[in-house]
Amino acid sequence: MLRFYTAGESHGRGLVGILEGLPAGLPLSIEFINSELKRRQKGYGRGGRMKIESDQAQILSGVRWGKTLGSPISLFIENRDWANWQEGMSADAVHAGSLEPVTRPRPGHADLPGALKYAQRDIRNILERSSARETAMRVALGALAKSFLLEFGISIGSFVTSIGDVETPIKAGRTYADTKLLLKLSERAGKSDVSCPSRDAAARMRAEIDNAIKNGYSLGGQFTVFALGVLPGLGTHTQWDRKLDGLLAQALMSIQAIKAVEIGGGAALSGLPGRAAMDEIFYGKETGFFRKTNNMGGIEGGITNGMPVVARASMKPIPTQRKPLHSVDMKTKKPFAAAYERSDVCAVPAAAVVGEAMLALVLAGAFLEKFGGDSITETRRNYESYKECLQNF
Ligand SMILES: Cc1cc2nc3c(=O)[nH]c(=O)nc-3n(C[C@H](O)[C@H](O)[C@H](O)COP(=O)(O)O)c2cc1C
Repeated sequence: MLRFYTAGESHGRGLVGILEGLPAGLPLSIEFINSELKRRQKGYGRGGRMKIESDQAQILSGVRWGKTLGSPISLFIENRDWANWQEGMSADAVHAGSLEPVTRPRPGHADLPGALKYAQRDIRNILERSSARETAMRVALGALAKSFLLEFGISIGSFVTSIGDVETPIKAGRTYADTKLLLKLSERAGKSDVSCPSRDAAARMRAEIDNAIKNGYSLGGQFTVFALGVLPGLGTHTQWDRKLDGLLAQALMSIQAIKAVEIGGGAALSGLPGRAAMDEIFYGKETGFFRKTNNMGGIEGGITNGMPVVARASMKPIPTQRKPLHSVDMKTKKPFAAAYERSDVCAVPAAAVVGEAMLALVLAGAFLEKFGGDSITETRRNYESYKECLQNF
């Protein structure tokens, strides 16, 4: 079983992550983890924090001489801003009261519900953890999952399809069935500071972000994540909480500001006649079973069907914005206009990188559930034997 935890506050000493369940003998490189962290920090429309933070992970355990030991892998990412917060975020009671409490909840954040739930008069005790800073560790752990999946030819990518109301129309059906095209789209997205594969749409997205910066509002958008090279048979139809589409939706929905997740053609499928929506089944001697379309996003009945696994997530606009929003001070109960803090205007490209990490972690988990193995050699043996069964099916 693969499981992971993250811990750490946004302005605390740093972030900690533990990933348990990767087999022994898997080669891992810190350079790859750090290059993924760098990808999360880029993007047109990011706020001041990205200029402060240049994330670097350290491997604290579970890896020796470049290979996993099979024991829990723990990672640490230092918060570069920690120097300025040592007293304000100290674990030591002697520093209590060194920072004014935050009493003004920001709409769209965990501030108010968190304060009510955890009986906190200082919203800092909530916002430090609810912040999307936490996603840096998910990306680092996701890099470990990606490294594992790559051993078995599974690669993960993403691209942004909309920012605000600027869209690049990508139709699920045939595009999601086309491995080469998906790769091309993510490669192109990798060269764009809004992670958009269409140059024309990217230019309009940038203009939209400029406009938002100028006029003090924030933006959301949508991104697509995909996995290529996934065999049929990950996930199961047999129990609700083991269905892969359900697990993936939960994983993507858990990313800060994600408000909708679609698998394959998603919501648009509800408006199609059944015939147009289903991915009809074909068979070739060389290819085995295959589909020409992929509206199901590679998952039928909670099980991968051999097509690319594709999901789309919708991100709400960033809650913090320069134009103040109405709120009420928790202490005085008086209304106020929520103040602007250093903040992203648009973080959809970064969220896409987090989405890749979550997809990788879910797929690596499903993969290990199916093939098990305490060493990578054992996992590979089980995998190859299943592959052979599929070929002879
Ligand atoms: C990569 C990323 C960066 C974000 N940056 C900010 C930000 O700078 N300011 C902000 O107010 N919200 C930001 N958010 C969104 C908030 O963290 C999120 O809306 C908030 O924690 C409430 O969670 P919810 O939207 O899932 O309900 C970001 C989200 C992601 C995924």
